[in-house]
Amino acid sequence: MRLRTIDKADVRNKKVLVRVDFNVFVEDGKIEDDFRIRRVVPTLKYLVKNKAKVIVMAHFARPIDEKTGAIDKVNFSMKNIARRLAKDIGHKVVFVSDCVGEKVQRASIKLKSGEILMLENLRFHPEEEKNDEVFASRLASLADIYVNEAFSVSHRAHASVSAITRFLPSYAGFVLAEEVKILHHTYHKPKLPLVIVMGGAKVETKLKLIQRFFDKSDDILLGGLIANQVLKAKGVGIGKSKIDPTVSVTLKDLDWTSPKLHLPVDVVVAKEISPDAWVKRVGVGKVEDDELILDIGADTVELFSSVAGKAKTIIWNGPLGYSELPNFAVGTDSFAKAIARGKAFRVVGGGESIAALDKLGLYDKIDFVSTGGGAMLEFLAGEPMPGIEALIRK
Ligand code: 3PG
Repeated sequence: MRLRTIDKADVRNKKVLVRVDFNVFVEDGKIEDDFRIRRVVPTLKYLVKNKAKVIVMAHFARPIDEKTGAIDKVNFSMKNIARRLAKDIGHKVVFVSDCVGEKVQRASIKLKSGEILMLENLRFHPEEEKNDEVFASRLASLADIYVNEAFSVSHRAHASVSAITRFLPSYAGFVLAEEVKILHHTYHKPKLPLVIVMGGAKVETKLKLIQRFFDKSDDILLGGLIANQVLKAKGVGIGKSKIDPTVSVTLKDLDWTSPKLHLPVDVVVAKEISPDAWVKRVGVGKVEDDELILDIGADTVELFSSVAGKAKTIIWNGPLGYSELPNFAVGTDSFAKAIARGKAFRVVGGGESIAALDKLGLYDKIDFVSTGGGAMLEFLAGEPMPGIEALIRK
């Protein structure tokens, strides 16, 4: 799969509207992880260097209250993110407090070659998530060329990633093109043995991915919510552990008795999810009714690490326990260290797995870190990618 990349366009003196994904991890108003911002800096620098008038647009989180429809424009503003972009890129970034309308038009007209303008959160307009054509055409009216540099949101049929491609000559950014190339290759021509490691939530998509990779892969390691779900479906007691109630894992879906499928053999449990909860390690099947499974145990770490140690390709998405809290992050961290030591080609995606690598200083040991969590899973599971379809070279 080859995409039309932005270096094929003449961008000089043109207004180039770049869709990025700055859905970064923010706590108490502070940007905790700017990985997604840093990743697109080279593309923006390329455009600046080639004298484009750069307009950056993005979404941040989900600002619309699902029940009331109210939009929180204070806590979900992208103003701070625009500041961080300016710092990361070392270039002035002008911020405008909307993404369509008169003041945005004026700001885009004033833009000179080599300057950067950043728009306010696209999701302040409900039309964005509805893939609304009129909204897309209003965005498109700001520019001459469109670039998608947001792989991680390209699984969404949203106006700024999908409908907009009907209104402007559309290109892929360098990072998006690289993600697609590597993930495509990893699916079609992985070096064997191939080991798939799935943890965390998003159980439905992960099951689809496992289904698609079942014959291709040599081993599949499961932790986190997805492991709980499978254990429960197999009739193993998981106490009051969380599962995704919208997913019905039936034993018919896959051959759960296959020797390539590895579930935890021991787990870390607690009675509550809290940083000072009293924890204990028990064998699988020994979880009490009032306990929650919150991490994999030491025997499982050893088992998973030894299986992964034989791999030539590893695809990992999602933490193996409740890794937001340090007392339940031991399994994920130990496994991350083990795969960082190995020699396999390692592809990792998903915010928490990346955060684990970053925290341990192992980020650079991984061959490819995808910006996409859900997008990486959906791409590998063979699901439609509305943001990419229009960029494929025919
Ligand atoms: C992500 O963080 O995975 C992307 O930005 C998509 O966000 P969404 O799941 O809110 O659409």
